[in-house]
Amino acid sequence: MDKLRVGFIGAGRIADLHALGYRDSADAVLYAVCDSDPEVATARAKEWGAERSLTDYRQLLADPQLDAVEVLTPHRLHREMAVAALEAGKHVSLQKPMAVSLEEADAIVAAAEASDRVFRVFENFRYYPPYVRAKELLAEGAIGDPVSLRVKVIGGNPRHGWPVPVKAWAWRLSEEECGGGPAIFDHGYHIFSIARYFLGDVESVFAWIERTELQPGLTWDSPALVVWRYAGGPRFGSWETVNSAELTVRSKYYSNDEWLELTGTRGLIWVNRCSGEMLEGPPLVVYRDGETQAVDDIESDWAASFVDGIDDFVRAIRQGGQPELSAEEGREVLRFSLAAHRSARDGRPVALAELK
Ligand SMILES: NC(=O)c1ccc[n+]([C@@H]2O[C@H](COP(=O)([O-])OP(=O)(O)OC[C@H]3O[C@@H](n4cnc5c(N)ncnc54)[C@H](O)[C@@H]3O)[C@@H](O)[C@H]2O)c1
Repeated sequence: MDKLRVGFIGAGRIADLHALGYRDSADAVLYAVCDSDPEVATARAKEWGAERSLTDYRQLLADPQLDAVEVLTPHRLHREMAVAALEAGKHVSLQKPMAVSLEEADAIVAAAEASDRVFRVFENFRYYPPYVRAKELLAEGAIGDPVSLRVKVIGGNPRHGWPVPVKAWAWRLSEEECGGGPAIFDHGYHIFSIARYFLGDVESVFAWIERTELQPGLTWDSPALVVWRYAGGPRFGSWETVNSAELTVRSKYYSNDEWLELTGTRGLIWVNRCSGEMLEGPPLVVYRDGETQAVDDIESDWAASFVDGIDDFVRAIRQGGQPELSAEEGREVLRFSLAAHRSARDGRPVALAELK
């Protein structure tokens, strides 16, 4: 069987980890690179060995040889590109956050429903191997019934970690193009996603989202504290995010890291890293019945979440099934995020049902 031909729309910073996912794929090949910047399109196609390089994504979508696309552009372009790709009969993997409003998300849900192609919102934390193992342990009852989830995100000095081009920050710091701020709307989509991944539907949320001035007229949306109540029981989740401007985050990727704690009726699970590797020791630890068990037989490099997520997308195209996240699930994650933002604005708890 021929390999699936995949095209990237957008070939910026995060496209590198997508190229890695396709590099060794037995079933798919990176066939085309489209970027509105012609130099980027040409250079990246050469770097990754893609057959075609283009600057107009509609021209790419008109190519009958193309089977699927990875949409890797600023958020304001997601709806237009995802809907056009589905209408052109392509399989679509759309980077998080799905869109910047529920109206836009609804248009994508409708286009996915009307299409017989695979559509998913690619939120890679759901493929991070220590989170996948933590979820399996939870399902096996390793810590009894889950009672709470606690997440910490820390951002350090951006001069450390991998280089991020100024233009990749520029659109993120524009609320218009990003849909919100880089810490809570952009990165936060991962946290809102794993909050649902581990403990399910959320009923209501309260958030403080402060702004830190980077330079006159330019602000960053942290520190922040978000707390939520899960549906169907007195169970809570919380997420704290801070920026430690002088901190060196040990990371091969962005200058930030995450860790989380799941509490159950009989024990606890800690996942000690994700995007970075600040904390020494095993990526996952389980405590139960007076015993601590370190789980270190799992890959914990953040890039593995991209490789595994891409494998799942390709498998779904070949064999059927719905990879994480369906359009509806992507919309639920966005609704949670938008409810947190409304809470921070209004200074009151917000029920997700308020957002239709
Ligand atoms: N999963 C993750 O952890 C993760 C990490 C970083 C970024 N992302 C997501 O990936 C997407 C891209 O982020 P990035 O950091 O790579 O941004 P980036 O700015 O580095 O890259 C975006 C690219 O899109 C190109 N582009 C802009 N408009 C275009 C158009 N009309 N047609 C074709 N190309 C166009 C730009 O020229 C640029 O090269 C965003 O959705 C972002 O949230 C996800």
